[in-house]
Amino acid sequence: MITRRDCLLSPAALAAASTAAASGPAPVVISSANGLRACTRAMELLKTGADTLDAVIAGVNIVEEDPEDVTVGYGGLPNEDGVVELDASVAHGPTRRCAAVAGLRNIKTPSKVAQRVMEQTDHIMLVGEGALRFARAHGFKEENLLTEKARLAWMVWKQSLRDASGHNNWAPGLWAPSAAALKSRFPQVDEATLAWAWQVAVHPPTGTINCLSLNAKGEMSGVTTTSGLAWKIPGRAGDSPIIGAGLYLDQDVGAAGSTGRGEENIRIAGAHTIVENMRHGMSPKEAVLDALKRIERNYNGNRDLLAKFDINFYALRRDGQHAGGRLWSGPHASYAVNDGGASRLEPCVCLLQKRG
Ligand code: GLY
Repeated sequence: MITRRDCLLSPAALAAASTAAASGPAPVVISSANGLRACTRAMELLKTGADTLDAVIAGVNIVEEDPEDVTVGYGGLPNEDGVVELDASVAHGPTRRCAAVAGLRNIKTPSKVAQRVMEQTDHIMLVGEGALRFARAHGFKEENLLTEKARLAWMVWKQSLRDASGHNNWAPGLWAPSAAALKSRFPQVDEATLAWAWQVAVHPPTGTINCLSLNAKGEMSGVTTTSGLAWKIPGRAGDSPIIGAGLYLDQDVGAAGSTGRGEENIRIAGAHTIVENMRHGMSPKEAVLDALKRIERNYNGNRDLLAKFDINFYALRRDGQHAGGRLWSGPHASYAVNDGGASRLEPCVCLLQKRG
């Protein structure tokens, strides 16, 4: 039966959706580029008939627990006090429910805590100390999430700070070290690690993982999880735990999520914007491009200001069509896809081309 909502989709989308409705869509999982293993795990679980949300959470748990991903979970870069604070959100299409946690300390898997909030409370969002107490009450293990690698990067960041007169309280003498002087300050650390620490000290990363799934019954779910902006003010929540920004899902239309500079996403309610764009007939690619254009508009197209950050969007329509979008072109402009075989990276559509 064609509903009023179907009529808002383009003829091509309507045809694809009708075919999918008749035969069931082909299962698919997409994620940010750091989620190849997450997509593989989620697809394995979808094939066993697992719930779509359980599948994507199991997928992103791999990255949350991986100390080498410094933008998510354990090993994430800390706030300005050297404390790792995590944000996550989940959305479950079949029950049309969602939930989030923000500023959660000491728990490796904030996505699981958000799922517990969704399933065990009538609240949508828990933050800070309340989120930690809730996690404790539900038996989550408390751990120190700050790895040695992340602590080193935080120390390098501290030593790169100067006040208006150029003074730094965290380094001996009157001047903070140059990149070249770091080796004498941290003699036990290898040069590649020091170069990385200097890079993230000067350009704080906003990594994150978003993962979206669709099963053969047409059910969808999504999750976004992050340690947020490195060196943030304690208590800063980015877009990842904001339903409608870092994650949004309408089982009748599709799902969207984001990684990158969260403040820019919140200002355009990016994930909600993308799902509404698809509801009104845009393809996933058109929908993510439109969201990127809204960010460009917020700076009146000023390239010098836009060059100070980057942001990615991911869209999965209920018929299985998908897209990734990124503000700036470059070697990292890709997203992960698994449609039943091996996980692979596909190119994002990019709004702006880097000069030179
Ligand atoms: N997108 C992650 C953050 O800005 O916190």
